[in-house]
Amino acid sequence: MSKPKNHPLPLPAKCNVFIAGTGGREHALAWKLKQSPRIGKLWVDPKANVGLRQLGEVCPQSLDPKNKFHFKRFLEKESIHLVVVGPETLLAAGFADEYHDPPNRLVFGPTKSASKLEWDKAWCKQVLRSAGVPMAEGRSFSQLDGALNYINSREDPLVVKATGLCAGKGVTVCDNKAQAIAAATAALEAKVYGDAGTTIVIEERLHGQEISVLALVDGKTIWMLDACQDHKQLGDGDIGPNTGGMGAYSPTPLATNDVLRMIERDVFVPTLDALRREEIEFRGVLFAGIILTHGGPKVLEFNCRFGDPETQSLMARWRGDLLESLWLTASGQLDQANISFDSGASCCVVVCAAGYPIKPKIGDPISGIDAAQSLGGAQEKVICFHAGTAPGNAAVPITSGGRVIGVTAVAADVAQASRLATQAAAKIHFEGAFFRHDIGGRVLKSIV
Ligand code: AMP
Ligand code: GLY
Repeated sequence: MSKPKNHPLPLPAKCNVFIAGTGGREHALAWKLKQSPRIGKLWVDPKANVGLRQLGEVCPQSLDPKNKFHFKRFLEKESIHLVVVGPETLLAAGFADEYHDPPNRLVFGPTKSASKLEWDKAWCKQVLRSAGVPMAEGRSFSQLDGALNYINSREDPLVVKATGLCAGKGVTVCDNKAQAIAAATAALEAKVYGDAGTTIVIEERLHGQEISVLALVDGKTIWMLDACQDHKQLGDGDIGPNTGGMGAYSPTPLATNDVLRMIERDVFVPTLDALRREEIEFRGVLFAGIILTHGGPKVLEFNCRFGDPETQSLMARWRGDLLESLWLTASGQLDQANISFDSGASCCVVVCAAGYPIKPKIGDPISGIDAAQSLGGAQEKVICFHAGTAPGNAAVPITSGGRVIGVTAVAADVAQASRLATQAAAKIHFEGAFFRHDIGGRVLKSIV
């Protein structure tokens, strides 16, 4: 059984926080947490990017899952009241189970068994099927023969997915049978995904606009956040390979109030009920990847963490005290939260390093961050969230990953936020920098 106890704990007057994770999503969370009047010391990982380092104290040790004892000692020594977990890998490793220790310390993020929704897609499908949640229909296979028979029996285009965590690389969206056969063979015979791909899910390929719907969940209360739209493909016009996400905006007009209520009623409520029937309580942020098909919204996948770059776009418009909201979620008191978003829209354009997503070039000095942040009119703002940046020898950050800076603009509507973010992204310079120029374009095309 995995059921965190209910702890109606008050938020400490000065709440010390450790933020686990080193990327753009974590910089955005830390940026908003720092604005809380209740924030005490904010600690960040030793591998954190430059933006995170500028906001917090660097923890003396890295998060080594094999050395939990030392990390626990650090949390105790520094009286960390709240640990906020960014990446799914830590949740899958049981981070929340290990360090959630009320009343001394809470962890924002679900337990290992609750986050199985993300780290085992085959299990997730079973749960959704048992709960009658609309989703891409499919089946799971561990044997190649069965997988190939299934592919050969289907006429429609398919998607082949490794069941485990593959850092966004385990999904093949196929146009024909030959691609599906190749993807299944690569996973089950050549073991290209290692243990993560010893079981695969083969499912129908859905068509329609894709949206990211995130909700805070404390086991009882579901708080739907403004829906976002990510742009996963590398190139303008949605061409090229899938990436971790090249840019996102919110709110998306595709998720009208009615659509969002339908997704809450038909996806979030039954999924959480199904988990509860398994005696699993979910506390944290639940993120549904949804395709809006002609037959209504259908689930592609669940993530059990904030999205990247969705979070950059959400934090730029988050109104009120994020620290309080995360605390109330982790302590089972989300019904007392007060969450809303600034009106208008935000758009995050991710500036990437040459070679991303295959082999990004790293080590290049980055300039133009201040120039980017100085753009925008009186009611607008631009924030540069660091992702793959590291301290350089001089006072200038250098590139250290594929997605380097998430240039995020807030403006009156999606069109203006997109225009401003794109203009600001052009101010960021390093060798080989590139970004998409059409974040938000899919919806702008459909509403004009
Ligand atoms: P996932 O990691 O499951 O989100 O998959 C990565 C991307 O592949 C998604 O964001 C979609 O763009 C695409 N995808 C995944 N499953 C499907 C599906 N059943 N039909 C169409 N596209 C899909
Ligand atoms: N942007 C998609 C994700 O975070 O998985």
